[in-house]
Amino acid sequence: MSRSQPTRRRFLQTSAWAGLGASLASLTLGRNEAAAQSVIASKPGTDLSAVPPRPAGQKPVHALTTPPLERVRIAVIGLHRGMTHVKAALGIEFAEVVAVCDIIDERAQLAAQECEKRRGKRPAIYSGSDSAWEKLVERDDIDVVYIATPWDWHVPMAVRTMERGKHAFVEVAAAVTVEECWKLVDVSERTQRHCVLLENCCYGENELFVLNLTREGVFGELTHAECAYIHDLRTVLFQLGNEGDWRRNYHWQLDGNLYPTHGLGPVAQYLGLGTGDQFKFLVSMSSLERNLTQHRNATQPNGGRHAAEKYVCGDMNTSLVKTERGRTIMIQHDVVSPRPYSRINALSGTGGTFFDYPARLALNDPKSFGLAAKGSHAWLSATDLAAMRQRFTHPLWRKLAERAKGSGHGGMDFVMNWRHLDCVRRGVTPDSVVYDAAAWSCIIELSARSVATGGMPVVIPDFTRGLWSTLRPLAIADPRV
Ligand SMILES: NC(=O)c1ccc[n+]([C@@H]2O[C@H](COP(=O)([O-])OP(=O)(O)OC[C@H]3O[C@@H](n4cnc5c(N)ncnc54)[C@H](O)[C@@H]3O)[C@@H](O)[C@H]2O)c1
Repeated sequence: MSRSQPTRRRFLQTSAWAGLGASLASLTLGRNEAAAQSVIASKPGTDLSAVPPRPAGQKPVHALTTPPLERVRIAVIGLHRGMTHVKAALGIEFAEVVAVCDIIDERAQLAAQECEKRRGKRPAIYSGSDSAWEKLVERDDIDVVYIATPWDWHVPMAVRTMERGKHAFVEVAAAVTVEECWKLVDVSERTQRHCVLLENCCYGENELFVLNLTREGVFGELTHAECAYIHDLRTVLFQLGNEGDWRRNYHWQLDGNLYPTHGLGPVAQYLGLGTGDQFKFLVSMSSLERNLTQHRNATQPNGGRHAAEKYVCGDMNTSLVKTERGRTIMIQHDVVSPRPYSRINALSGTGGTFFDYPARLALNDPKSFGLAAKGSHAWLSATDLAAMRQRFTHPLWRKLAERAKGSGHGGMDFVMNWRHLDCVRRGVTPDSVVYDAAAWSCIIELSARSVATGGMPVVIPDFTRGLWSTLRPLAIADPRV
């Protein structure tokens, strides 16, 4: 398979949308001339809200522990984004890069050189074809396989990884369809291997700060969160040799939230979704599509070869989620509008409100924290906010910030990698497991289904199969680790 012709194994006929409420669906599908093919893989009429009984031989993995390891041996498949993980692992004393893989041999060679330069040991190389990874996962000297390939590959690679006895660390999003999400859940439970979403945004300085404020009770009872992936990717979406080879395809196949987890992951952890609360249903709407088409027409990227593409994904998608405990979450997606980056990263409760970009905090009772602020009608001053940061810095950030300096995305990539690998080293359950990977990723298909039915509510399946109601939200990491 050539890199410029990504697999299209998910494409189905328009009939996949039948049963969604035909008249409303046709309103949207009428403008979707590319809908003769769709990434939605579920069978026509499939009830996506149904929670299939746990098949015999599977056990929940919410508290899965594994034997502790002296060192964690890793392999990385996909060496563009994957290079960040290679570099992070090289800076972690208990991690060892055993094998690297990319279709492009040059990328694999560069990764191997980096390992040799920094650790004096050259990992095995798997390259040259889109199936070279299959041999890598057969090795018996790997504990964790990182999967940092285009979305189409995430599920087959993660499934095979777990079936071969390794933990799968999967880039965002873990899967595109609900059916694929269930597959990850079932394989993780059957093999008792972790399937961890590499959601680095859960480990940003501000996200960890807000998580800590939440667990320390500063926000009181949590009521509402807002989050987003707003990132002007118009140029990236046409870059050959990188994401431009495959990511734009989703813009002519799906009208919904194509990249929900960067915003949703952190707020799901604040709210304890899957662990004490649960997603219930969502409604979703998209604006009209303009900016990608306009950019393509104006710049004629790659010699104008994309002129016939018809994009259906609305510029701004907004989804609203209701949770079982009555909280609400707004999730937005816009990767084509001319505007600055934002994940919004907002949280409200009875004790206060946080908004990011830039970071702002308002408190119901600032005096109880010894602050100068008088009330909640204004954001805290820079001095008061600094005092709160000083007091409530998350222990993981306090421990790792210095080492994380210079690593990707303001240090969060290193902190995430350290934390997940350290959990595997100690044999404890990682901060997020397959239920989180599935719940955060399934928003792609479910938002598209709601958009296609004129914003009708869509039930979000409970991937924990009822476990959520008895679980406790993610604890603050032990500062001694
Ligand atoms: N968490 C983040 O901040 C972040 C940032 C960027 C990308 N990502 C995610 O990382 C993943 C990869 O994105 P990217 O930007 O690196 O994409 P990319 O297209 O630039 O690179 C993908 C790499 O995977 C390789 N590849 C593709 N199919 C393969 C196969 N079958 N076997 C081996 N190698 C294969 C390609 O040759 C390429 O080197 C995506 O899921 C993306 O969403 C996450």
